[in-house]
Amino acid sequence: MKRVLTYLFAAGMMISAASLMFTSCTKEGPQGPAGANGTDGTDANATCTQCHNFSELIVAKIVQYDASQHAAATTLARNAVDCSPCHNSQGFQECLTTGEWETSEIIQNPAPINCRTCHKIHDTYTAADWELRTKASFTNCLGGTTDMTTDGGDASGNLCARCHQSRLATPEITDPTSTTTTLQPTSYRYGPHHGPQSPMLAGTGGYDINGDAVLANSYHTGRTSCVDCHGATASGFATGGHTLWANTAGCNIPACHDGAVTNFDYEGKQTIIEEGLVILEHKLALAGVLDTVAHPGYLVTTVAHTQKLLAIFYNYKFIEEDRSMGIHNFKRANGMIEDGITYLESLGY
Ligand code: HEC
Ligand code: HEC
Ligand code: HEC
Ligand code: HEC
Ligand code: HEC
Repeated sequence: MKRVLTYLFAAGMMISAASLMFTSCTKEGPQGPAGANGTDGTDANATCTQCHNFSELIVAKIVQYDASQHAAATTLARNAVDCSPCHNSQGFQECLTTGEWETSEIIQNPAPINCRTCHKIHDTYTAADWELRTKASFTNCLGGTTDMTTDGGDASGNLCARCHQSRLATPEITDPTSTTTTLQPTSYRYGPHHGPQSPMLAGTGGYDINGDAVLANSYHTGRTSCVDCHGATASGFATGGHTLWANTAGCNIPACHDGAVTNFDYEGKQTIIEEGLVILEHKLALAGVLDTVAHPGYLVTTVAHTQKLLAIFYNYKFIEEDRSMGIHNFKRANGMIEDGITYLESLGY
């Protein structure tokens, strides 16, 4: 609420500053931002009111945004060059321009992900600035191409995917089916790292440990975009809208589940994934791959693992870090769990 008042104050200041600029140019303290001239020769300051007006639109969006995890910004302290592309607004915008996955320097005074990060706010000072900063496909952190464009043509998922993607796990698995060649990562934090939601939804992340291409994707793949579910009709400032918390209003639109979804554990699918992950975790621990002592839940780095076992561990982490428990792509998550359990059982675990 405090922010809304601040915002209204700023808007009021802006309007009075604008009128001052038109009436007098002397003595009135600091001048407001000078707008670039419009192509038709009009003063850009006059376009401010395309957004800063007495419509409630921005107020409503700010209240929702304030309830989002982006606004909570608990990870804002991650401002190193290799974290800033996703953990603060300036780093994201710099990397969008350079195409790199590292900023040139540590970002001092990092700003949380905010209106300007995703929209072109104050680029032209016109309503055209509501446009998203990017909807383009891009080369991801693993060197592949990410394109989240859905059948409906909504490419806004490419914006989210720039941050919500897997990062490189080294050494890289070259043959996830190999039971003979081994790898020994040095970091117990081995895996896709946080937020691999876009490769999960797109069906491009994780490994096919049997190499039989049986892994399938759920109906969501290629048909739904992040904001279809995370930016659905707002329920106050609890879910939906710019809170980006998923709600069942997103599931239940007529073209999709049309009222059939009452909670996210639809048809018990989240329970299946949760239970499968527990079994897989247990077997990976028995196989000496998953640590239960020094760094519980992470990789055992004191010995080398076959590429196949390492790939199963990676898949386990991938599903865990995705955090939707199968909602993003049930078939792929479940397929990876089943393949992993079957192989570990064949080894006697
Ligand atoms: C595309 C719509 C849009 C236009 C056009 C626009 N603004 Fe803004 N402005 C915003 C939004 C959204 C915020 C809120 C940012 C936030 O809270 O993070 C904002 C915030 C502000 C603030 C509060 C301080 C800040 O930077 O957060 C000032 C002052 C401001 N705008 C001035 C202007 C002026 C002056 C113009 C015209 C030259 C203008 N704006 C044009 C959308 C717009
Ligand atoms: C600039 C990078 C960036 C962009 C763009 C971005 N996110 Fe995020 N997102 C993050 C980070 C970082 C966090 C964790 C924030 C924290 O806790 O500090 C996060 C958190 C979230 C969360 C909450 C997860 C939790 O911690 O519980 C959701 C949901 C989410 N984002 C959805 C989206 C959606 C949907 C989009 C696209 C409309 C999007 N994000 C765009 C970086 C980004
Ligand atoms: C390619 C984008 C990207 C990069 C680069 C990145 N992160 Fe993140 N990180 C995210 C996203 C997105 C989330 C939120 C994921 C979620 O909530 O599921 C996140 C979450 C986190 C979290 C919170 C995890 C939790 O369980 O609450 C930590 C800690 C973190 N990152 C640390 C780092 C550090 C340290 C670096 C730099 C070495 C880094 N990240 C680099 C995208 C990135
Ligand atoms: C994480 C990214 C993200 C952040 C942060 C964000 N938005 Fe958005 N916003 C979106 C997406 C995605 C859409 C849907 C637009 C689309 O699909 O083209 C949207 C749509 C909008 C719209 C409707 C635009 C239109 O063309 O009708 C408004 C208004 C808006 N946002 C305001 C804000 C304001 C104000 C803030 C800051 C308080 C903000 N947004 C922060 C991603 C974001
Ligand atoms: C088909 C609907 C759907 C799509 C599409 C979707 N999500 Fe989700 N997402 C969900 C649901 C439902 C959850 C689980 C919520 C729960 O169990 O609390 C979730 C969970 C998450 C979480 C964990 C934090 C949380 O909110 O529980 C993040 C982060 C996230 N999604 C980001 C994304 C991103 C980024 C995209 C696009 C690449 C995306 N999601 C696409 C429905 C969806």
